[in-house]
Amino acid sequence: MTTIHTPTSHPGQSGQHPSRIDTGTAVEFPADFRWGAATAAYQIEGAADLDGRRPCIWDTFATLPGAVLAGDNGDVACDHYHRMPQDVALMKRLHLDSYRFSTSWARVHPDAGPLNPAGVDFYQRLVDELLGHDIRPWLTLYHWDLPQTLEDAGGWTNRDTAYRFADYALSLYDALGDRVPTWTTMNEPWCSAFLGYTSGRHAPGRQEGVAGLVAAHHLLLGHGLVVDELRRRDTSLDLGITLNLTVADPFRARDDADRDAARRIDGLQNRVFLDPLLRGSYPADVVADTASMPWLGRPWQEVVADGDLDLIATPLDLLGVNYYRGDCVSGRPLEKPEDDGVTHPTRPAGSPFPGSEHVTFPSRGLPRTDIGWEIQPEGLTRLLVRLHSDYKVPPIYITENGAAFHDVPLPDGTVHDPERLAYLDAHLRAIRVAMDAGVDVRGYFQWSLLDNYEWGYGYAQRFGMVHVDYATQQRTPKASAYWFADVARSGVVPPYDARATP
Ligand code: FCB
Repeated sequence: MTTIHTPTSHPGQSGQHPSRIDTGTAVEFPADFRWGAATAAYQIEGAADLDGRRPCIWDTFATLPGAVLAGDNGDVACDHYHRMPQDVALMKRLHLDSYRFSTSWARVHPDAGPLNPAGVDFYQRLVDELLGHDIRPWLTLYHWDLPQTLEDAGGWTNRDTAYRFADYALSLYDALGDRVPTWTTMNEPWCSAFLGYTSGRHAPGRQEGVAGLVAAHHLLLGHGLVVDELRRRDTSLDLGITLNLTVADPFRARDDADRDAARRIDGLQNRVFLDPLLRGSYPADVVADTASMPWLGRPWQEVVADGDLDLIATPLDLLGVNYYRGDCVSGRPLEKPEDDGVTHPTRPAGSPFPGSEHVTFPSRGLPRTDIGWEIQPEGLTRLLVRLHSDYKVPPIYITENGAAFHDVPLPDGTVHDPERLAYLDAHLRAIRVAMDAGVDVRGYFQWSLLDNYEWGYGYAQRFGMVHVDYATQQRTPKASAYWFADVARSGVVPPYDARATP
């Protein structure tokens, strides 16, 4: 049975604000709650052609006209490849007990060929440095940076890519399995699949409709192969996946077209991953909506081979949830084009929702971060409660949450970011509300440790706890980072007082 989530109340245009959550009291998290920061290889490492690394799909995509603002690429990024020891020391100063990073497939197996010892060595040193500082490494195997040679052979629309992914994962396990306790396979496979192969907004930039569903299946298959193999080798590992889930609310609660749009977006963003992972089947309504969309002349769902869903549903030890905002959706055209005031990449991109291209996303009039995303912390509470009530869900970690603001250092060098602090405060409270309702949430990773390469936005959007001056590579913790460090150290979010922010 497919569960269709419809909210009991309609946010519509009435507006919801962080202040809907009580901010006047301190909230406490369990003593063993994990506090960390997250990054991704392509976004911070740089050293794009050093020590044998070869191109990945983002290196290529960044060269396409209009694909990335200012044509920015990850060649240098935060130069983390060379500054890693200082960056780990910074994490320690900020009282982080865990660090979620991703490994670069194109470094470890350049061109998806033989293992590159120099590439593996970087991650060996990173893990040793973390353990030396008593910081728990949390390794993500795939954060969007497919080796270009694999894309040239069809990328994630080619079933073979899932098996190459398993080879890569096992090489890394051989090198790091004794020291890395937590392994997640994919980061946000929705983005890899539907932004990469349906809308073309992300690398590899293909706009091939139902190819997104084909890619999603192969990403899930790669996940299942790896979880199954790693579990066989080592039962002590914590294994999981990170999804970017949304809360899809109909713009008009009683409008059938808007309610249908909400069902479709919930299906194509949430249930298309949650159902196979946690129930071993694809949602019937998503399959029905896309049944007439063939892939290479055959119904797309014929890419699902016997046994795939059993592998994909291999039990998980944890589910990573990335949440920035929910979506307000409509089944009708927008009355006027939305203007969020943000400069977006200009390369034409289509809808990421195959078969539901007509769905629109009207503004609710909520406050937004500088990347244009509405701020909706109560959506996180509803999302977590829904996961708990609709699925047999393993322990949850918030593997990404954070905000982009155009932080500018003051003349004295400090960086004040009260909006980010308010965002974090509101979302941590929203998590605590869900925990009080019985949801098993075990940790929180802020996105991101450093300002970094924000994909199509290049270096124009700053999500960091730590400001990066890209000309000098100087790191400066923002005021909110000191606040977060106190939260991480004490496990307590203090009463929010806008006037008293650091
Ligand atoms: C998530 C990505 C991460 C970063 C944040 C802002 O979708 O996983 O790399 O871009 O958004």
